[in-house]
Amino acid sequence: MTLPALNRRQAELLRRLFGDEQEAEALRFEACPDRVDVLGVLDELATLGLARLRQESQTVSSLTPRGAAAHKEGSPERLLLRVLQEAPIAMRDLATASGLAEEDAKPAVGKLKGLGWATIDKGALTATVEGEPAETEEEQALDALASGNEPAPEVLAGLVKRGWVESRTHTQIYAQASDDAQPWKTHFDEGSWDELVTEDIRQITPAFVDRYAGMDAEARQRMLLKPFGVQADTQPRIPGKAHPLSQMMAEIRQVFVAMGFEEIAGDYVESAFWNMDALFIPQDHPARDMQDTFYLERPAKLTVDAEALARGKAIHEHGGDTGSTGWGGSFSEEVSQRGLLRTHTTNTTVRYLANHPEGAHKVFGLGKVFRKETMDATHLPEFHQIEGIVTEPGASFDTLIGLCKVFFAAMGFPESRFRPAYFPYTEPSMEIDVKYRGKWMELGGCGIFRPEVTEPLGVEHPVLAWGFGLERLAMMRLGLKDIRELYLPDLAWLGSEPLQ
Ligand code: PHE
Repeated sequence: MTLPALNRRQAELLRRLFGDEQEAEALRFEACPDRVDVLGVLDELATLGLARLRQESQTVSSLTPRGAAAHKEGSPERLLLRVLQEAPIAMRDLATASGLAEEDAKPAVGKLKGLGWATIDKGALTATVEGEPAETEEEQALDALASGNEPAPEVLAGLVKRGWVESRTHTQIYAQASDDAQPWKTHFDEGSWDELVTEDIRQITPAFVDRYAGMDAEARQRMLLKPFGVQADTQPRIPGKAHPLSQMMAEIRQVFVAMGFEEIAGDYVESAFWNMDALFIPQDHPARDMQDTFYLERPAKLTVDAEALARGKAIHEHGGDTGSTGWGGSFSEEVSQRGLLRTHTTNTTVRYLANHPEGAHKVFGLGKVFRKETMDATHLPEFHQIEGIVTEPGASFDTLIGLCKVFFAAMGFPESRFRPAYFPYTEPSMEIDVKYRGKWMELGGCGIFRPEVTEPLGVEHPVLAWGFGLERLAMMRLGLKDIRELYLPDLAWLGSEPLQ
């Protein structure tokens, strides 16, 4: 009979298996330093039919701290009986009058009734025996455990349930060479086993590949390639990767670019003119208040192109040539030229229109905005908006809704709805909600720019516009309850987020 090919570890272990049965722990050696290594190789030998394994399980029980206390001070039912022998206790006073811990009091009452030591009479727990009754079965079992004996399994189960005893099962694996392994013994005895042992190849290195190429068929046969366990449990690898928010921004860019959009950007520091006036936001609008907007000390003033300013003034005061009546009152150039941190990214699209009034355009932007918000689970004073416009002949309300729906569907939210809303710069105006876990979440606004916005800039075609909140979208995508989590250096969470 030809002997099965063994690797060195298998042969070394098999050599130790002749003679009496041995427990795995005692079989450890240099190449198998831990019990688990021995068990692994024993398993291989058993599969080859060279080792016989026998398993023995042993359950060892021990008292928990509560079990030890019940043993030392007496079981709760016995302690409660002593109290009752002084005077009955009303059931509703049990917790305070029994002197027992809450977790012990209720079960003790059950036991007392079961043992016939007490009854409940008109809501009062009353002792029915005098003196000290003999030890219960459970108390005897506690004694047995305390002196190192195993009680009967039925009683033991009850004690485990009461949290007094812990049971642990130890499994011992005994191994011995099988009859089929006997031919190997001769080789081991004669010291002629080296040539029977294959090489255990664990890693394919360039050097090994070179050597393998030079081997004849017989030598190759003796190479035992350790199979790769592709299902094996391994330590998680946490590679460097972009922050989930950055990954999402890249994804958003991809969605817009795929729809033929070009990306635009603008500055954080902006004049009130481009942030508000050019968007026909009245100069006394509450959102322009110091409470909502960060105004700057430096630069406190940003010079705005005189012609644009004059056209803005006309629109605000009387509607210019648009047929609108404007807001009335008098427009302040000074207010218009104040420096601020942009409160939305609509400044970038309106500036883009000012520079490209003619022709058809599709542009989007992804940028940071600033608002004087109190930080909480759904608000940040500094966040990002996803902004965009489409301007083309005949651009319509339907196109706008379709675009928004396609965008949110691409981001993983197939259900979206539109509610009428108000923005000073669009007509009609809508707010957009998407469905998330069965609930509607508000994600932004959209609409068609009013003539008061487009005419002074000389814009040729209707302009569809929108602005969505990036962080709200991210919260939903990442399943976060608190928007602030996006900006915490929580490495465990960041590590666990997948690389997209
Ligand atoms: N600027 C609005 C906001 O910050 C969103 C919006 C953009 C609404 C464009 C309509 C058109 O919420």
